[in-house]
Amino acid sequence: MADIASIIAQMTLEEKAALCTGVTSWGTTPIERLGVPGMTVSDGPHGVRRVADETALVQESLPATCFPTASSLAATWDPALIEEMGQALAEECIALHVDVILGPGVNMKRTPLCGRNFEYFSEDPYLAGEMAASLIKGVQSRGVGTSLKHYAANNQEYQRMTINAKVDERTLREIYLPAFETAVKKAQPWTVMCSYNRVNGVYGSEQTYLLTEILKEEWGLEGFVVSDWGAVHDRVAALKAGLDLEMPGPRPRRVQAVVEAVQSGALDEAVLNEAVRRILGIVFKAAETPKGAPFDAAAHHALARRLAGEGIVLLKNNGLLPLKDVRRMAVIGRAAREAHFQGGGSSHINPTQVDMPLEELAKFAGGAEITFSEGYPADDSSQPDLIEAAVAAAQAAEVALLYIALPAYKESEGYDRADLDLTGQQVALIKAVCAVQPNSVVILNNGSALAMSTWIDAPAAVLEAWMMGQAGGGAIADVLFGIVNPSGKLAETFPLKLSDTPAYINYPGENGEVRYGEGLFIGYRYYDMREQPVQFPFGYGGSYTTFAYSGMRVSAKTFRDVEGLTVSVDVTNTGPVAGREIVQLYVHDRKAQLVRPPKELKGFASVELQPGETKTVTLFLDFRAFAYYHPAYGQWITENGEFDILVGASSADIRCAETVTLESTVELPCILHRESTLREWLEDPRGKPVFEPFFAQMLAAMREMFGGEGEGGIGMEVMGFLLDMPLRDVLEFQSQQLPAPADEIIAGLLQQVYA
Ligand code: BGC
Repeated sequence: MADIASIIAQMTLEEKAALCTGVTSWGTTPIERLGVPGMTVSDGPHGVRRVADETALVQESLPATCFPTASSLAATWDPALIEEMGQALAEECIALHVDVILGPGVNMKRTPLCGRNFEYFSEDPYLAGEMAASLIKGVQSRGVGTSLKHYAANNQEYQRMTINAKVDERTLREIYLPAFETAVKKAQPWTVMCSYNRVNGVYGSEQTYLLTEILKEEWGLEGFVVSDWGAVHDRVAALKAGLDLEMPGPRPRRVQAVVEAVQSGALDEAVLNEAVRRILGIVFKAAETPKGAPFDAAAHHALARRLAGEGIVLLKNNGLLPLKDVRRMAVIGRAAREAHFQGGGSSHINPTQVDMPLEELAKFAGGAEITFSEGYPADDSSQPDLIEAAVAAAQAAEVALLYIALPAYKESEGYDRADLDLTGQQVALIKAVCAVQPNSVVILNNGSALAMSTWIDAPAAVLEAWMMGQAGGGAIADVLFGIVNPSGKLAETFPLKLSDTPAYINYPGENGEVRYGEGLFIGYRYYDMREQPVQFPFGYGGSYTTFAYSGMRVSAKTFRDVEGLTVSVDVTNTGPVAGREIVQLYVHDRKAQLVRPPKELKGFASVELQPGETKTVTLFLDFRAFAYYHPAYGQWITENGEFDILVGASSADIRCAETVTLESTVELPCILHRESTLREWLEDPRGKPVFEPFFAQMLAAMREMFGGEGEGGIGMEVMGFLLDMPLRDVLEFQSQQLPAPADEIIAGLLQQVYA
């Protein structure tokens, strides 16, 4: 390993500044005289987008495996398989001379309209964090780096480069940051990419609070922070905030600005040195991995197929699936011939090969007669003749398979979706075909939740196949014919309609600002709280078999938060075929000082079971599973009290529950102040003993003045009135009777409390 301190000591100011800005669209600046190599980064996240010419931002990239996108990966709930994918990604990076892959993306799916949701895992921070950590571990285990992105609160594409996300502290800590936090703490991504947008008024690239205080100091990121491409506005301010590398390059004026800032004293050279130290650490680490060995494209294609198969969610099935002994099949829909397997934008991969759904289907069809009808056009025009032809084909067959892909123009990086709907023609097609052919299966390709209420009743079965990667066509066939028993579960809620969604009123914002007014309540946290029906809940997914849950046990009925709790449950395959069940563990806090969601995912595991087989699933809940972030204390806290531990097959299908009592070990700092209310004084553990005797005297004096419980006296209703008044105001009302000014009395009480 190079002696970084000595290299920094030898670097000129110009060399340091140059290292902190890219030299090309994808490369960092080499410093030959000191033996500092350049480093190459490439998108990401679900495949390597290596452009041969590093000066080109966009160019057809070199062939690489296009794995399923994040929504599909998250639906596998299978961290081990995601880690395997990470290893495969690293092998491709090595082959393509890439040091760092730009991913994964862990932004929350705040609204299903976000055009980039296909690149993000979930509406739940726990699930997203676990998935990201596994992917990062996989990639980095092979000596290739990752870039965890886009930090933070980049939850819409609308005005993504400027929008100011207004998010309160608790919501940031509990919803928008934890996936990053988990990934950083568990997997140490080599780099973290800041977001374009502003968060509470400050650009992602200039956020001292997020980049330095939280990411580096609190979570301990060892690597460096890179800007999203073009996210830096003021280079010097960004450096000061903790943004180490600006991309893309070259940007000679930026380099010059840094040099001048140091020369003029506007920027402390120590700040620049720290960025250089972080960048060099990764540059040299990356150089340790020899590049160039070819990857096994066939093996990676097979892995992509497994992933796509595990990610497919069986949304509905009346028993038609898996298909058996079908002699005549009508295949309908463009997506059967032109696989829709990835999204538009920076993640667009040039695949090594693509499985066409129709061809893959034919391989399993055992000589059945298969017809193909296009069904719908590539654009949003209405073409009744295509529907007529499809209906005729469906009528002549025993089964109709409708391959419906949300058109690429409806969903992409760079802009948001306008609605949650399929095209008018697609909906009309589904209805018309199902009307003549009861044995119809709809197979969907899309990156995020769709509204389905107008057509979901019509087909016999529906598969959510997502943006399924280059091998998805084969994976669909695997599931249709039962070679693979579907086991994916939704990592995002499918609402009934757009106006039901949590951010509906506060999206997309106006005047350059979007207020996260729904706070903690995104995804199932919102639907649970509102008791609002949805099309398919978070965590939902069907199977060709059935599972029973029994024998739930917890390690203790009463436990200390720091010791945590172990939860076990037995899961039995009660159906006819082997299958995989994803077991979900949710926690509900019965009573807290602040509002909490009705339930939150805090653990999950999957079990493979043969028919009749039972296995025990054991999960551990740590301190954070019970804690919430209290903005007044500025820390994660637990409180004494009861929690429900809920084990289920989805967020809406809880199979077993236990109630346990938590003993908190958190010592809360006292936060009483001049304006604290009577209730706050009485509820504060340190305020209470000081205040209670004073309060008793005060009440006695008041009762003397105004009378007791009777009409107009100090009864319950007056107490209700008083409790939420600041002590100072209550005292001011009786200032004539007081021996000293209210402020002095309060200062005396506070002195006793803080003594
Ligand atoms: C995207 C990033 C991507 C970068 C480089 C940006 O526009 O937001 O996700 O990694 O471009 O292509």
